[in-house]
Amino acid sequence: MALLEIEQLAAGYGRHDALKGVSLTVGEGEVVAVLGANGAGKSTLLKAVLGLLPARSGRVLLGGDDVTCIGTAGRVARGIVLVPEGRRIVMGLSVEENLLMGAWGRRDRGALRAEIDAIYQRFPNLAERRRMRGSVLSGGEQQMLAIGRGLLAKPRLLMLDEPSLGLSPRLVGELFRLLVDLNREGLPILLVEQNTRKALAIARRAYVMELGRFVLEGSPDELAVDDRLRDAYLGGGGSAMATHGSESALAGAGAHTGQGLAAQALTNGPPGERSGP
Ligand SMILES: Nc1ncnc2c1ncn2[C@@H]1O[C@H](COP(=O)(O)OP(=O)(O)OP(=O)(O)O)[C@@H](O)[C@H]1O
Ligand SMILES: [Mg+2]
Repeated sequence: MALLEIEQLAAGYGRHDALKGVSLTVGEGEVVAVLGANGAGKSTLLKAVLGLLPARSGRVLLGGDDVTCIGTAGRVARGIVLVPEGRRIVMGLSVEENLLMGAWGRRDRGALRAEIDAIYQRFPNLAERRRMRGSVLSGGEQQMLAIGRGLLAKPRLLMLDEPSLGLSPRLVGELFRLLVDLNREGLPILLVEQNTRKALAIARRAYVMELGRFVLEGSPDELAVDDRLRDAYLGGGGSAMATHGSESALAGAGAHTGQGLAAQALTNGPPGERSGP
């Protein structure tokens, strides 16, 4: 039994069916990526998993329990945690107050203090700025704060919606290194990304979404040899892949597990620097 099981889930807005019956699993310890172009329905999927949008049909199961009819607060309490698109930091609150929003509803104050300290150790920039307003943070620091806030909600499954958006290549590297670390510490991750190369470098499996449906699914190795993925999401046809094949994260023998690929993902520049003529 997988940790998260999504079965034929459909959701939408008004008359618009943005999510048209998708099925996906995330196993304990897995990083699973959902890829796709703007408007494909990736954020809608995460919202429906969290219960921010009601399911029109289909089911969401966590640890075998059907949570489809449970509200968002109940799903968060069970450990489904979302780091949303655009971070959603409250600019007028301090860094620490923002962090504590993730702990809303928790009563174990003693354990919480230790976890906050652990987050400050992980993110020294946040520790230095703990009393400052969220508005002073850089984009990268805001992303770290949003992840720290998510961690304080005690996730069994951490979902992230385009966490690399707007970050410099160096910060994207730091972010993906962090995700690999969190996963190695045992946290399963469902990652929505438009940075296909980086996402495939750390994911064990990936799904490609178009117009509310999954059109491809597989391990990074399997997807790497699929022309549709290469053409649409990896910046061009076979020549680009051939040029970079030997150094590509996708070509690594350890792609099933993501082991060994992470290091490459973390040191490589953005796709634009690596492909092209
Ligand atoms: N609040 C909303 N009301 C109406 N339609 C919406 C709403 N949010 C999203 N949509 C529509 O649903 C579809 C899927 O949107 P969604 O935000 O899930 O895409 P996405 O894959 O996350 O895109 P992006 O990569 O740009 O974030 C799009 O056609 C979008 O216009
Ligand atoms: Mg989105």
